[in-house]
Amino acid sequence: MTGGIQPEAVRRAADFIRERAGVSPRVAVIAGSGLGAVGDELESAVTLDVTEIPGWPVPTVEGHGRELRVGWLGRLPVAVQTGRVHLYEGYSPAEVTFNVRAFGLLGVRELIVTNAAGGLNPEFRVGDLMLITDHINFPGLAGLSPLRGPALPEWGPRFPPMTGAYSARLQALARQAAAEAGLTVREGVYVMVGGPSYEAPAEARALRMLGGDAVGMSTAPEVVVARQMGLEVLGISCISNLWFRTTAEPTHGEVLSAMAAAVPRLRRLIRRVIELLDER
Ligand code: HPA
Repeated sequence: MTGGIQPEAVRRAADFIRERAGVSPRVAVIAGSGLGAVGDELESAVTLDVTEIPGWPVPTVEGHGRELRVGWLGRLPVAVQTGRVHLYEGYSPAEVTFNVRAFGLLGVRELIVTNAAGGLNPEFRVGDLMLITDHINFPGLAGLSPLRGPALPEWGPRFPPMTGAYSARLQALARQAAAEAGLTVREGVYVMVGGPSYEAPAEARALRMLGGDAVGMSTAPEVVVARQMGLEVLGISCISNLWFRTTAEPTHGEVLSAMAAAVPRLRRLIRRVIELLDER
């Protein structure tokens, strides 16, 4: 067992998905808060309610869907998960990465993780898309790692490096995709915090001083597990609120409305990235 997740349980979920979808996805996309409509890009999609998938942790947060859609973009089978679970919901780091373990067992090669994030970099604006180049994983640094627990050789190495965790190749494809779609993208370091309270202003200033460009409450554990299992990762943050205004007081509603505005651009970007993967 790894932090409470049995490999057989993940295998059962993966088998269920493969059987119901009739195909094993090659690419998986995890859609963050308010970003679920990214799944509308898929053709001939089968939609699973995640409550049906054995062992799959179910999101409890408003703005997070509960679907796993498996369909096609061009010639590539793609899975889009609308909604994810977070540490602050009470799930363990191993539970919040159950999805990525299942994607790994299904044979997914490229994982695209998206999230809503607060902007720490003063050049950012609400609605900006940021390619994640690296992360600062506060929960992980403090011991809340999805890899904590007995080492299971089938999951990958005990001490996986996080150097280059955000694939340079996929970032290059995303830059090309953005240029072709006429979109501007930012780049930067994603800081993961535990939440669910938003940062105190002094905390946000401290995160900026540590080198963060955006801050959010997800993603880093998924990336750690993806890298342990050998998946290539592209991370994209949508900037939903800004921290360098002294009066910043983010609300969940503000975050969701910023995401709704960003969805059409994110959809175009992800579609084009996957088309470019298909062309290689
Ligand atoms: N902080 C943490 N998580 C977030 C934020 C933020 O400002 N915005 C969206 N998710």
